[in-house]
Amino acid sequence: MGGESEKWVLMVTARTPTNIAVIKYWGKRDETLILPINDSISVTLDPNHLCTTTTVSVSPSFDHDRMWLNGKEISLQGGRFQSCLREIRARAQDVEDEKKGIRIKKEDWQKLHLHIASYNNFPTAAGLASSAAGLACLVFSLAKLMNLKEDNSQLSAIARQGSGSACRSLYGGFVKWIMGKEDNGSDSIAVQLADEKHWDELIIIIAVVSARQKETSSTSGMRDTVETSALIQHRAKEVVPKRVVQMENAIQNRDFPSFARLACTDSNQFHAVCLDTYPPIFYMNDTSHRIISCVEKWNRAEGTPQVAYTFDAGPNAVMIARNRKTAALLLQRLLYNFPPQSDTDLDRYVIGDKSILEYAGIKDMKDVEALVPPPEIKDNLSTEKSKGDVSYFICTRPGGGPVVLSDETQALLDPLTGLPK
Ligand code: DP6
Repeated sequence: MGGESEKWVLMVTARTPTNIAVIKYWGKRDETLILPINDSISVTLDPNHLCTTTTVSVSPSFDHDRMWLNGKEISLQGGRFQSCLREIRARAQDVEDEKKGIRIKKEDWQKLHLHIASYNNFPTAAGLASSAAGLACLVFSLAKLMNLKEDNSQLSAIARQGSGSACRSLYGGFVKWIMGKEDNGSDSIAVQLADEKHWDELIIIIAVVSARQKETSSTSGMRDTVETSALIQHRAKEVVPKRVVQMENAIQNRDFPSFARLACTDSNQFHAVCLDTYPPIFYMNDTSHRIISCVEKWNRAEGTPQVAYTFDAGPNAVMIARNRKTAALLLQRLLYNFPPQSDTDLDRYVIGDKSILEYAGIKDMKDVEALVPPPEIKDNLSTEKSKGDVSYFICTRPGGGPVVLSDETQALLDPLTGLPK
């Protein structure tokens, strides 16, 4: 090991996307290895709008492993972090950086300590699967630093041990997490079904819904479900296996009506098993229900689905529109039903891909106020507008998988000290 002095710091920075499941993972058959009771399928979201950036570094001058998340130091003592670190260190290879005169032998990795800094480009408090992108990014960047030979599918089996849904963030586009059969989890991996270019018409709008109470974590929620719900067994054994095949076909054939029907019914069934859990778990709130009703009415009026919706372990709605035109019409409906509060800046109320807003012909608050009720709204009840129930909207699309950022200015750690910049 070593360069001329023992002062060197070697680092890698990577960026990893979040993902949204359209066939949900809910329930484990092994809590420690994080092995699921069914396959799941997700869409990777464009990292330009939602991603985690992580810098990992190693230096003989570091005396223990440390991690900072969004600038604040956090503990790495948790079992899940430790599993990922152990699995990666066990596969580490020799590393040589000729320019810096650094050589690390594979056995040295067991003694060397790491500094890790991670940053989400979206508010952590928004309740958007930040752990998925975070754990995937940790595993991906460490694998690059330690020169692992494993491919992304094999790395997904390590990320899975950090958080189940993280394994699907190792790929862009459309991803399946195969539940696997082995007791050691070696075949519980993510595979890419199609890349993001395969179906690039899709537009995703996320409504970040204001939540009043703290939600049950996915980990404890799914544990309670497996212990108490009778429906979850039927879902895992009978319903999901068929839906996974149908969803794979819908994605392969870019069959939006089937895709939308499967995504919506699967989200609804996931929330039904939450309700079947004892004591019951409520992730969706009134705003979530109003969004479902708005989309369902429109889809019914059109005769064929224009938009799919799906909800994870929280009230936020993720809506997938079949193309830009329907996304613009959806955004008009959403802004009509959930206008920003008078003191909110439209520019901060609709974030991400602003071109959807332009396409919808909305430039400022006057345009929002001028929106007319959509034709499918006939009764008075649904025209009731509610300000403040949605914190903001994010417009995005399916996106690519993890990448190494070679531009050193994007590193989150100082190249000389290995401390956060
Ligand atoms: C509802 O991956 O957060 O988002 O494996 O315990 O870390 P752990 O749970 P997590 O659960 C995600 C559940 C979900 C559905 C999904 O992403 O498939």
